[in-house]
Amino acid sequence: MSSNNFPVRRMRRLRFNESLRSLVTEHQLNVSDLIYPVFILPGEQQRQSVPSMPGVERLSIDELLHDISEWFALGIRALAIFPVTPADKKSLCASEAFNPQGLAQQAITAVKQAYPEMLLISDVALDPFTSHGQDGLIDEAGYVLNDETVEVLIKQAISHANAGADIVAPSDMMDGRIGAIRQALDAHAHINTCIMAYSAKYASSYYGPFRDAVGSAANIKGGNKKSYQMNPANSDEAIQEIKLDIEEGADMVMVKPGMPYLDIVRRCKDQFRVPTFAYQVSGEYAMHMAAFEQGWLDRNAVIVESLLAFKRAGADGILTYFAVEAARLLQQK
Ligand code: PBG
Repeated sequence: MSSNNFPVRRMRRLRFNESLRSLVTEHQLNVSDLIYPVFILPGEQQRQSVPSMPGVERLSIDELLHDISEWFALGIRALAIFPVTPADKKSLCASEAFNPQGLAQQAITAVKQAYPEMLLISDVALDPFTSHGQDGLIDEAGYVLNDETVEVLIKQAISHANAGADIVAPSDMMDGRIGAIRQALDAHAHINTCIMAYSAKYASSYYGPFRDAVGSAANIKGGNKKSYQMNPANSDEAIQEIKLDIEEGADMVMVKPGMPYLDIVRRCKDQFRVPTFAYQVSGEYAMHMAAFEQGWLDRNAVIVESLLAFKRAGADGILTYFAVEAARLLQQK
């Protein structure tokens, strides 16, 4: 074993010091990769913490505008907007979803006015607006109706584009919605409004804290979303979903959740070579925060490592509740 030329190949040579390691680094996390999801409250001067998501706050629009100045200075240029709808505005027909004076629409207009360069990604789905917490209209049996729901999603997407959204992001998983929304946007002179499709969205148990944050958890009760979101056991099916969304006109596709589904991100990128995003969802955030608070994981190092893993898997960008903190860490580096 101890001949002069053992081992033939010394992989450790390029790990000898920081300069060498940097020289051969394959992937990098940049602030421009980060999309920050925000929860919007009605009213003024409202800030509420979300118990299952320590460090995340629901903000009224004025507070949001206040906080954005720091995020903008850090280099964050993309927000995903999620409205918290009061119970009295929820209904079976989800008409609040396309109210031109709705909370999401108001937030989009206000932010766009103050920060024209901040990209706003609006969530197109009915769950914040239905009294039952499902992402669509239901029949007597509680089944989520596809084509009827798509008609409402179209109205919602157009109202977001009218308000100034740069990117509409259908997260509902109805069949055919990308094509229908694209057609409707074009017909309403929104040819440059982008579509980021939640293409491979799984029926995941990692969304729990989000449903607390937007207040849809109590409504959905014992129900689930398995008749429209994907089975976590499936991978080929994700490729079909992504292919359909691209054919229907999606500009960008997304895989969700993130870390447990990085295999899907990689397959997607390898196969389609389109702008690919992944969502490090609320449950992934909660899990990390719980370990940080216990002192079981090194907070700064793990945040950066977890986000770098998305880049390595092929993601062009990441929706993450750590976006602002990660931006601060990147700035310090
Ligand atoms: C709603 C929506 C959900 C998330 C984003 N948009 C929840 C769901 O489908 O139940 C989850 C985000 C997260 O968990 O961070 N259609």
